[in-house]
Amino acid sequence: MPVAKRWAYLDHAAVAPISGPGRDAMRTWLGDAAGNGDVNYPAWIEQVERLRSRLATSIGAAPDEIALLENTTAGICAVAEGMPWHEGDNVVTRVDEFPSNQYPWLHLADRGVEVRRIEVGDDGRLEPERLDAACDERTRLVSLSWVAYANGWRHDLDTVAEIAHRHGALLFVDAIQGLGVFPIDVSRTSIDFLAADGHKWLLGPEAAAVFYIRREHLDHLRPTGVGWKSVVDDMDFKHIDLRLKPSAARYEGGSPNTAGLIGLEASVDLLVEIGTERIARRVLEVTDLACERLRGIGAQIVSDRSPEHASGIVTFRLPGYQPAVVRQRCLDRGVVLSCRGAGLRISPHAYNNNEDIDRLIECL
Ligand SMILES: Cc1ncc(COP(=O)(O)O)c(C=O)c1O
Repeated sequence: MPVAKRWAYLDHAAVAPISGPGRDAMRTWLGDAAGNGDVNYPAWIEQVERLRSRLATSIGAAPDEIALLENTTAGICAVAEGMPWHEGDNVVTRVDEFPSNQYPWLHLADRGVEVRRIEVGDDGRLEPERLDAACDERTRLVSLSWVAYANGWRHDLDTVAEIAHRHGALLFVDAIQGLGVFPIDVSRTSIDFLAADGHKWLLGPEAAAVFYIRREHLDHLRPTGVGWKSVVDDMDFKHIDLRLKPSAARYEGGSPNTAGLIGLEASVDLLVEIGTERIARRVLEVTDLACERLRGIGAQIVSDRSPEHASGIVTFRLPGYQPAVVRQRCLDRGVVLSCRGAGLRISPHAYNNNEDIDRLIECL
């Protein structure tokens, strides 16, 4: 992680630094694209397809259930715009979801869809009973972040899936704050849709994202963004034949962000090599250490740190200090964190060492 030379980078929940292998892969691609144009296009496609397979394997899906889109929002919109809504349907989500997990649903008001935004406190806690109570027979979709960006609350996805499905609803998971850190297996946890961009815990660049759609839903959603790459004979430009690919790739209507996807491929490769279980263990260890040290200097930990809901995100208050001022002072001293939720937010990755936490505490 080249970033570690200079910074105690504790902000992976914002825009993460790109891994060394990710940077190198993109540099190589840039050299090729500048020197050879599209001569090696087939090799680029191979790399992109390797990413599709790797992402599929890492979440327990099949490659044909994976679309490589431009960001998390695109995945959310594919579902919001594509579901066969009926007047009076509702979507259940939370009031503290990232805006991209709210606006696409709110935008369905003109189609008669109600959005139920469950209230949560600063710590983001949501008991299963309250989620259950928000759903009824008209709930078509439950849309939640795996890990809440503002407070780090990590949902138990098995519980959430059970509640959604018991009400006859589908489950959408915004996985951007969990993917790369915590294991997930859609072949065991019945998630219907999932989306995540690569620019946080996957250590890739922006605008290279994964969208998972369970195979059985492919033909129930009206695909959005249909273009030349959506059809079966995508290289036969002369014959217009609108037969959509029988896979999630139908959502990839036009030219991809090849540089970004190639960078993401190298970063995902690195994470797979290290292993998600190890990464999760270290992220929880380093965040537990940070909480202990923060409490030691009088900070109030806002995030729920119970083992089943703790994540890589820790939000805290520093009584008597303005978060924005503290953040700037930390930046001046080489420590990167964010102002989010009820105060300040740190989000260390597995490569952050204990000295990074020492530097944070010294600054504070
Ligand atoms: C929970 C969550 N969803 C989505 C996003 C970003 O979405 P996109 O990849 O569309 O930029 C963020 C960024 O902070 C986020 O925290």
